[in-house]
Amino acid sequence: MELIFAQYQSIIVFLHVISAVVWVGGMIAIRFSAHYALAQLEGPQRLARTAHMLNNLFKIVVPFVLLLLLTALIMALAMDLHQSELKVLTFAKEGIWSVMALNLGMMILRRNKAQRFIDAGDFANAKSMLGPIGTLMVPINITLGVVAIFLGVLLRF
Ligand code: HEM
Repeated sequence: MELIFAQYQSIIVFLHVISAVVWVGGMIAIRFSAHYALAQLEGPQRLARTAHMLNNLFKIVVPFVLLLLLTALIMALAMDLHQSELKVLTFAKEGIWSVMALNLGMMILRRNKAQRFIDAGDFANAKSMLGPIGTLMVPINITLGVVAIFLGVLLRF
């Protein structure tokens, strides 16, 4: 692992950082730009567009979420981070990734349920499925993502 990392250090760190950019940046764009643009639409149309937009976002971010973890594990193993003085930061980042990934998984499930309600014309239930995604779940992941990025700066070697 050390050999792989030594040879491909720049590309591994690059893939790690670009994954965080896509994941966290994607959520920020959706929450602070698309969310307000969609709020101008009427109820059912807004719900349908929101579900569509979230589907597109989730399809883009999921591969980067996995790539983020893969590159993180390569770095942690190569630098023996779990045994080093940086172990607390490393465990903290792993914990943050896990909570973010779980939160993302729950958002995907809620969006899929909302899609089924929309298809069935049940907009009240679709709204209650989608609501917490924008008001709570995405903001939680943005906050955790920003903290993880800051911890990444502290982990720089
Ligand atoms: C899964 C556990 C994680 C581990 C073990 C980990 C490990 C690391 C390490 C060792 C670095 C330093 C790389 C360097 O030499 O510059 C780093 C940087 C970074 N990490 Fe993570 N990371 C994890 C999760 C995350 C998450 C969840 C995010 C954001 C969503 C993230 C975003 C970043 C960013 C943006 C940097 C670059 C910081 C800089 O340029 O100084 N990481 N990470």
